[in-house]
Amino acid sequence: MDLSGKSYRTFIERQEALKKQFSEKQAEKQHSKGKLTAHERISLVFDSGSFEEIDAFVTPADQPVEFGKVDRTYGDGVIVGHGKVNGRLVFAYAQDFTIMGGSLGVVHAKKIAKIQEMALKMGSPIIGLMDSGGARIQEGVASLSGYATIFQNIIHSSGIIPQISVVMGPAAGGAVYSPALTDFVFMTSHTSYMFVTGPNVVKEVLNEEVTSEQLGGAEIHARKSGVAHMIYDDEENTILALKKFLSYLPSNNVENPPMVIDDGATPDINEKLRDIIPDDPNKAYDVKDVINLIIDKNSFFETSELFAGNIVTGFGRLKGKTIGIVANQPKVLAGVLDIDSSTKGARFIRFCDAFNIPILTLADVPGFLPGIDQEHAGIIRHGAKMLFAYSEATVPKITVILRKAYGGAFIVMNSKNLGGDFSFAWPTAEIAVMGPDGAVAILYRKELAESKNPAELKKELVKKYRDKIANPFIADECGYIDEVIDPAVTRKKIVSAFNALSNKWVKVPARKHGNMPL
Ligand code: HXC
Repeated sequence: MDLSGKSYRTFIERQEALKKQFSEKQAEKQHSKGKLTAHERISLVFDSGSFEEIDAFVTPADQPVEFGKVDRTYGDGVIVGHGKVNGRLVFAYAQDFTIMGGSLGVVHAKKIAKIQEMALKMGSPIIGLMDSGGARIQEGVASLSGYATIFQNIIHSSGIIPQISVVMGPAAGGAVYSPALTDFVFMTSHTSYMFVTGPNVVKEVLNEEVTSEQLGGAEIHARKSGVAHMIYDDEENTILALKKFLSYLPSNNVENPPMVIDDGATPDINEKLRDIIPDDPNKAYDVKDVINLIIDKNSFFETSELFAGNIVTGFGRLKGKTIGIVANQPKVLAGVLDIDSSTKGARFIRFCDAFNIPILTLADVPGFLPGIDQEHAGIIRHGAKMLFAYSEATVPKITVILRKAYGGAFIVMNSKNLGGDFSFAWPTAEIAVMGPDGAVAILYRKELAESKNPAELKKELVKKYRDKIANPFIADECGYIDEVIDPAVTRKKIVSAFNALSNKWVKVPARKHGNMPL
């Protein structure tokens, strides 16, 4: 090659112009807000030196702009490319807020669409690092249609490759649906927010004062709306967690999740499990203690930790293999199923099923939450999602009933007749149509009303109900569960059961798709 020739000079000039485009001043502006630049984020996500950028030199679309201006910058405000994360191929895009507020113009959208299509073709996860003022106002409807293409691509890739959004700045208006459509949403506290209509519109329409943080900050989405699955204090920790999270997932729906070597730190038989359930059936305990004593040491990665704490969801490993865990949490609302916990559980189950991740269910659930609020807000419709998700899932599914499994909630939590593969129960399990108090009140209403000492009679009847009905032995003898097990051997039993299910194959009748209640 002629290094003094015109083409080579142009090549070098372009490279230099691109470098100059990213000034210290811009970086400082981001840093002063507690944010990193798009380049810094990309270099934290990918294994050192592995990221390959494409389309770095594309420029914004030539459009007659009669309102505002479009900066003629290289790249059009988004970095796209591929590289390795923990040695595995991953595609990504990172919006650059320092260029027109990371707003999405036509070319910006085309770059994202191109990388989405590549990720799908290669069967690799895609990560979107979002920091954008939304649709580029100057480009009008063209930028809206750019969003539509991106949404369409996310939906086409759903269930084929893992799609993860990391919101690290604003996401406003319809742009929020880009993260919302993906599998998991990470947010960074205090610097990111998402809302369909911002504080100004809220003020105009409802005359209510609210800050961006109060309306759609990371805490709100993690605790209240459930839109964000994971939040962290700063961007470095957000990205570290994202990388760890990816290690649990397969690259696509026809691969299995990567295996890690189990260091053997979790004993297969652990007597501590016998002492976790309190003697008093109305006393709470932390189901995460059970999870951590069963799965490989330190392997639990909880999802949606701050939302609907009455159900615990997350990934863990058993002998180095990824499993999904769904567990009622007696510590929060006694582990009851309500609208939020049902939708949280259902979505998690569907992700596991799409990506070949076996599901372990730990049941201790008194039933569905009663009350006008829940009924009127549609607990019937939302609770049905859990049923549908469990029943539809064809991955290996194992349940351990730790304590309460009453009524519809017994069925929902992956009961055998709903398609559960193995169902174990601890001797502390209480399996029945309803809890003792309710059962006694209905069956012995007259006797209690006529009794001289109703409290004493009720106590007696509750004891009798527990002995005769609300235990795991009737279900065991009738085959509704597979075995009552010593809690100490839970890990051993589960490992063996999942091994037995490793070649599970279910033929699903052909149909376009089921009609899940939404
Ligand atoms: C073009 C935009 C922009 C946009 C920001 N900028 N948003 N340019 N289109 N949507 C530009 C600003 O003009 C400014 O340019 C630079 O980005 C930085 O913005 P600032 O306002 O100075 O930053 P900040 O104070 O941090 O405020 C950020 C912001 C605010 C909260 C995001 O810019 C904002 O409210 N933007 C509009 C958000 C929005 O409503 N977007 C449309 C949503 S509807 P200069 O040249 O001054 O540096 C949507 C539809 C999607 O997205 C539909 C999908 C179906």
